[in-house]
Amino acid sequence: MNPKIIVALDFGREDTAIAFCKKLNPALCRIKVGLELYLATGESIIARLHNMGFGVFLDLKFHDIPNTVAQACKRAAALGVWMINVHALGGRKMMEAAREAIESEASRPLLIGVTILTSMSDEALHQVGVNDTAESAVSRLASLVHQSGLDGVVCSPLEVKNLRQQFNEDFVLVTPGIRTPSDQQNDQVRVLGPKEAIEQGSSYLVIGRPISRADDPGKKLEAINALLV
Ligand code: C5P
Repeated sequence: MNPKIIVALDFGREDTAIAFCKKLNPALCRIKVGLELYLATGESIIARLHNMGFGVFLDLKFHDIPNTVAQACKRAAALGVWMINVHALGGRKMMEAAREAIESEASRPLLIGVTILTSMSDEALHQVGVNDTAESAVSRLASLVHQSGLDGVVCSPLEVKNLRQQFNEDFVLVTPGIRTPSDQQNDQVRVLGPKEAIEQGSSYLVIGRPISRADDPGKKLEAINALLV
């Protein structure tokens, strides 16, 4: 069983997060725990999700000197999570150190690189010294992630087509920004439907509010999943 959907658990309290997850079938999705929830709960949320049968993507986007990131990845891997991530802008040495640090772990998580945050416009990139368009920076950084031996990248669903031409299907593409036509876009700007994203080569879909704000999250998860099989 390898569900394609990763539900973003964007809650600030453990009890609310767990109550929401009780509505979801762990055979149909994995769960993404980000900074807000992890800072509120610490490791206990991970253990509880594992006990409920969910695979966990610990989305803490590490970015520091190689040794610090390597040690953080080792700690995260020891929690038994399914996926972790680091910023590609930390550079090749940092990413290689991260990979080497988890290589000997009994259950090695997938290690994913974040290229350019989708919140960064071309102008915002120039301000921090990246004199490239976001699109070419993503492609270049994705190559660096690949050369550093990581398992894949987080990217916009609209970048999947290009990246899939660059890398074979073993390279994992994780895409947020997923909406069906009936969903509200919220603050997402460049979105794609779940079926289209998978057809274009996305490996996993990160979906938050379309499921967390649905009247019946369990049914909504089933409905999106049905589009993918
Ligand atoms: O509610 P929604 O489906 O927009 O949630 C998407 C999730 O993916 C959120 O947790 C958001 O922080 C995350 N994300 C994103 N865009 C990125 C990277 C992560 O929306 N480029």
